[in-house]
Amino acid sequence: MRPAHDFKPRIMGFLCNWCSYAGADLCGVSRYQYPPSVRIIRVMCSGRVDLEFVLRAFTRGMDGVFVGGCWLGECHYVTEGNYDALSMMHLGKKLLQEAGLNPDRLRLEWISASQGNRFAEVMTEFTNELKEIGPLGAGEGMSDETLALKLEAIRKVLPFVKLVEREKLRVRFENKEQYAEYFDGPEATRLFKDQIADKLTISQILLLLKDRMLTTGEIAAQLGINSSNVAKFLTESSRQRLIRFDQAEKRYALV
Ligand code: FES
Repeated sequence: MRPAHDFKPRIMGFLCNWCSYAGADLCGVSRYQYPPSVRIIRVMCSGRVDLEFVLRAFTRGMDGVFVGGCWLGECHYVTEGNYDALSMMHLGKKLLQEAGLNPDRLRLEWISASQGNRFAEVMTEFTNELKEIGPLGAGEGMSDETLALKLEAIRKVLPFVKLVEREKLRVRFENKEQYAEYFDGPEATRLFKDQIADKLTISQILLLLKDRMLTTGEIAAQLGINSSNVAKFLTESSRQRLIRFDQAEKRYALV
């Protein structure tokens, strides 16, 4: 675990080639100052940024992930990938939150090729925000072991998340505010809870049981959720023959 004092947040930035990357380039050429701990990966469109990339960045120790794209209506592709990036960001934030991580660690902004100063401002602001939140995991009061388990649990459900996104959560609105309203609203919240959140909890339980047998209470304590909820997931997982109750040990184990 990294010490919180003199904490310099590490940020991975995925920047669209046509706008934000050019904006970052202009920022450098114009000698605008921004924190040096930002690592940049150029992508052809913000819509190319997969949740898998975001998760990999966190797994490799980044404290924040930034996605930069063209302003809405200015994407260089007919598919207008920046709308997909908006959905991806909201789903990513929900996944982080569900796993107990701060959703503000993921940020999406539009930056055009002529906005070098905006790139510097956004990066400085994001860095300061992450300084307040703290190092990944430690900022949420998690041990390194718990953090690794949460990230791995998210990774395991990602294929399913993408399927749900494509089948049920692919929406199209005009602006950022409407996306936020939809993803924070009752329909998306219910869909996320029913289709994704429960699978994420089960994924965490299965990972915990990989190493040792555990009681309901022990699982609840490690995941920070109440025992009756855990009991519900254990019953469901037993029914699906993913886990079993060991009578001799009085604990749950993987099948
Ligand atoms: Fe920049 Fe699509 S080309 S967001």
